[in-house]
Amino acid sequence: MIKYISLFSGIGAFEKALDNIGVKYELVNYCEVDKYASKAYSLIHNVPESMNLGDITKVDETKLPTEIDLMTYGFPCQDISSAGLQKGLRNEDGSKTRSGLFFDAIRIMKHCKPRIAIAENVKNLTSKRMSGVFDTVLSELEDAGYNNYWQVLNAADYGMPQGRERVFIISIRKDIDDRSFHFPPVIPLTKCMGDYLDDNVPSSFLLSEKQLSKIEVSNFQQEKRRIQDRGGICMTLLARDYKDPKCVQIADLHYYNMDMPNRIYSPEGISPTLKTVSGGGGEVKVLKNKLYRKLTPKEYFRLMGFSDSDYQILVDNGISKSQLYKMAGNSIVVTVLENLFKQIYKPVTQSIASLKQQSLDILNNI
Ligand SMILES: C[S@@+](CC[C@H](N)C(=O)[O-])C[C@H]1O[C@@H](n2cnc3c(N)ncnc32)[C@H](O)[C@@H]1O
Repeated sequence: MIKYISLFSGIGAFEKALDNIGVKYELVNYCEVDKYASKAYSLIHNVPESMNLGDITKVDETKLPTEIDLMTYGFPCQDISSAGLQKGLRNEDGSKTRSGLFFDAIRIMKHCKPRIAIAENVKNLTSKRMSGVFDTVLSELEDAGYNNYWQVLNAADYGMPQGRERVFIISIRKDIDDRSFHFPPVIPLTKCMGDYLDDNVPSSFLLSEKQLSKIEVSNFQQEKRRIQDRGGICMTLLARDYKDPKCVQIADLHYYNMDMPNRIYSPEGISPTLKTVSGGGGEVKVLKNKLYRKLTPKEYFRLMGFSDSDYQILVDNGISKSQLYKMAGNSIVVTVLENLFKQIYKPVTQSIASLKQQSLDILNNI
């Protein structure tokens, strides 16, 4: 059983991954300032909200235990992301930015001295523009007594049809690091986005006329990028998508006979300019809003590697649709973490297995 402290916990993707691969852990505390995310964490992981340390800036680290095996901290990315102002860890006046809450994680790390600490952030942290920030991150970790291994991993390389590149920093305490850690090898993708989608979703997820006209008239190329091909991989799901969730094409261009709604004509079978159909009668209309729909929050959860029951318990407890989109977009794809943890905890399980085998061999030879 590993002793684990979770910072910037969100809905707990690290915890989900540990559960999924059967690594048992004792949660010391979780730490999440957002009341909806805290409630969601407590529901998904079945722990009381009293275990939440709350705002990390107010955490008195001296009250935390020192014998910790694992600390995870997917610190805020707003000031690192290419979509923001890229202020880095500090404002011009020297105060901490939201991403600068990294320093609070370091403060806790220096006290708790976890054997292993794992950070996750946007790929932009490794960009040329952010090189000073990344150097600071790595040198702070080094000064805290850790060897650091980092790599950008794409969720699509670890079993999930979502293009989501994130940097992972694995810090191993210098006194226990045997330099055997390697990032997980890429796994060929066997699933596509369509495997995670529902066939029937409420009509409220169909695009409105306004959204459709944006796709079809103005800025087509830009809007087209929002449309996902269900046979491929989906783009990075983001917290800000709650305002405008990613869309999927749900049907090819078909023409519906309004008098006989069950008759569907494919573009190959009928000229798009034809207004009436012999035999069918009536006017043929293109029901364009039946072509695309928004992804549902449930599908966001699935594409982040969470289960339908994780999603359902949040819905049953009154978490709103926009909060659900936000939480999913803020989280980490669980299958990536499963593969990462297998690299970290594999040596332990392997050595137990080899010890068992050695004992059996000895017994067999008696
Ligand atoms: C990138 S998300 C991490 C998501 C998480 N890794 C997961 O699996 O869902 C960053 C989280 O840090 C939380 N956060 C931001 N400021 C915080 C603070 N002052 N104290 C504690 N948590 C904070 C945010 O609410 C958000 O949930």
